[in-house]
Amino acid sequence: MKKDHFKSQILQGIPSELPATKAYPKNGNPAPKRKDILSKDEKKLAVQNALRYFPEAWHKELASEFAEELKKYGRIYMHRFKPDYEMYARPISEYPAKTHQAAAIMLMIQNNLDPAVAQHPEELITYGGNGAVFQNWAQYLLTMKYLAEMTEEQTLNMYSGHPMGLFPSSKEAPRVVVTNGMMIPNYSKPDDWERFNALGVSQYGQMTAGSYMYIGPQGIVHGTAITVMNAFRKVLQKNELPEGKIFLTAGLGGMSGAQPKAGNIAGGITICAEVNPEAAKKRHDQGWVDELLVDLDLLVVRTKEAVENKEVVSLAYIGNVVDVWERFHEENIFIHLGSDQTSLHNPWAGGYYPVGLSFEESNSLMVENPEAFKEKVKESLRRQINAINKHTAKGTYFFDYGNAFLLEVSRAGGDVMAENNIDFRYPSYVQDILGPMCFDYGFGPFRWVCTSGDPKDLQKTDAIALEVMKKIKSEAPEEIQQQMQDNIKWISEAEQNKLVVGSQARILYADAEGRSKIADAFNTAIAKGEISAPVVLGRDHHDVSGTDSPFRETSNIYDGSKFTADMAIQNVIGDSFRGATWVSIHNGGGVGWGEVINGGFGMVLDGSEEASNRLKKMLFFDVNNGISRRSWARNKEARFAIEREMERSPNLKVTLPYLVERDILDDLF
Ligand SMILES: NC(=O)c1ccc[n+]([C@@H]2O[C@H](COP(=O)([O-])OP(=O)(O)OC[C@H]3O[C@@H](n4cnc5c(N)ncnc54)[C@H](O)[C@@H]3O)[C@@H](O)[C@H]2O)c1
Repeated sequence: MKKDHFKSQILQGIPSELPATKAYPKNGNPAPKRKDILSKDEKKLAVQNALRYFPEAWHKELASEFAEELKKYGRIYMHRFKPDYEMYARPISEYPAKTHQAAAIMLMIQNNLDPAVAQHPEELITYGGNGAVFQNWAQYLLTMKYLAEMTEEQTLNMYSGHPMGLFPSSKEAPRVVVTNGMMIPNYSKPDDWERFNALGVSQYGQMTAGSYMYIGPQGIVHGTAITVMNAFRKVLQKNELPEGKIFLTAGLGGMSGAQPKAGNIAGGITICAEVNPEAAKKRHDQGWVDELLVDLDLLVVRTKEAVENKEVVSLAYIGNVVDVWERFHEENIFIHLGSDQTSLHNPWAGGYYPVGLSFEESNSLMVENPEAFKEKVKESLRRQINAINKHTAKGTYFFDYGNAFLLEVSRAGGDVMAENNIDFRYPSYVQDILGPMCFDYGFGPFRWVCTSGDPKDLQKTDAIALEVMKKIKSEAPEEIQQQMQDNIKWISEAEQNKLVVGSQARILYADAEGRSKIADAFNTAIAKGEISAPVVLGRDHHDVSGTDSPFRETSNIYDGSKFTADMAIQNVIGDSFRGATWVSIHNGGGVGWGEVINGGFGMVLDGSEEASNRLKKMLFFDVNNGISRRSWARNKEARFAIEREMERSPNLKVTLPYLVERDILDDLF
């Protein structure tokens, strides 16, 4: 009965009768109120834009309601049109669809909007504060209906959440093409986003929100574990273990909350400061951090004890991280690894809390006197870097975690520049760790979702992936043995880490060979009935080839091309004609609107021979496109990887750079 209700509601699209108004759910987690940025005339335009989804007879009633939403939230979400069925990833068989490709996409959309997964589900936001799947509920309703109706001869075009419609295409074409937040470059400043999003004509898709590929916190835990493990390796001797060695950082929020869990997986002592007691308690209740401490003196005692006993433990300090950096210096506590994951991409509106003010004091000051708050933040950043510099002088390895920490410290006038006054004194995690150790070799956040929704299928895929990885490792060159070993460890322990929330999904860092062989083995298992339903493949955009982002994913590109976005665009176009089921390209994701172009794909494996051909062609390109660009930028690990790939793939012919002796350049200018 319930299933039929779900199906009929989807097939209806925009309902034929105006639904009753809805109260905002009591336990909802509302998105922050957005900036009131539109002029009077623009506000009228925003309402006019929203009304074009509905018949004229409803306009009078809806116009005042939408105007009210715009006033109250800064956006028109059309709350009244949210369907009354539960939002979660139902098994693939429960969607009313003509193709299993479309049904799989519906499943992925449902997952991104599941309240157990999504950050602000009522506002259709999956993660990152503004990472939207759709701008409003009308777009959701229309999209689901189009997907239900589409055949294998049609493609749905998504313009920033708006379904433009179904266009004739072919069986081989992607079923959906997604663009999010794509702007004319001169109109891509943060306030432009506020304006065009408020008008209802553009949205911030983050990375995996607007591309229907979010799988909950698992993805972040795996990536963070790889980063922390490799950071320890950089500073420890070959046979030394991280136990009893300290990783000091800040933030127990959305992504940063993965740090203590990852620190435990890496096997060290993680100390994570968090000013918001609620955030710290949430991570403690989830079991992601072992102990909570509210007193700095006690933190010092407990830390010394953990070092003494060579413990593997994570300690959350409820307070400001600057106090910890300063106090640990006074106490002469040696920190092996240091980083920071406060939200400095958003420094003035609650992303970073300055030292010396309580959490509540900061929250009021930022509203009552934004300029004074700004000064406090800058002062705090200067103090923080001074303390960090004292530790690094004693041997601490500090890295930026892609949160704009070094950038904001430099803007605040902190002592963070290298001698050349161009670069920062410390590297970013991609420059030093993920770039050379993973992305340049092609290792990145490959993922899959079992569309049956059955945990047994996920177990089966884990076992298949483990077997394939072991086989590849036995023949892999020395250069990538460590990466293979880390990923084998991850996949062997993945089930017991209990990180599945929402759909039955798994993440696994793998290179081109690994991704392709694992996917092919899944496809065979589906054909034989060993896996009971299709499997969706995808990846995070935070990967080898998907993202051009000069301060993050492509921060280890040193030929001057890191401010170009050719790689991400080539990737999405290339994937789309090599068999992707859907592709997406976004402006903004992670580091902010206008700061990054990132793309991704989804691919449905159904056990067919076509799927086997497609996956090989597409996954090969999806990874090697980025490796070739990284190799052209003279990255030696990428050069190694692409030459190795050319040896085994005669059809691949990549332009290789000649390397120039430095002294030839010395006296030129
Ligand atoms: N984990 C990753 O893989 C990853 C990768 C790249 C970038 N990042 C970046 O990391 C940042 C954090 O992301 P998030 O989703 O966790 O954000 P978030 O806002 O949910 O969490 C940040 C936390 O830091 C706390 N905080 C702020 N100032 C503090 C201070 N001075 N001392 C102690 N705690 C403080 C806040 O209370 C908040 O809970 C973002 O800028 C994100 O882009 C994370």
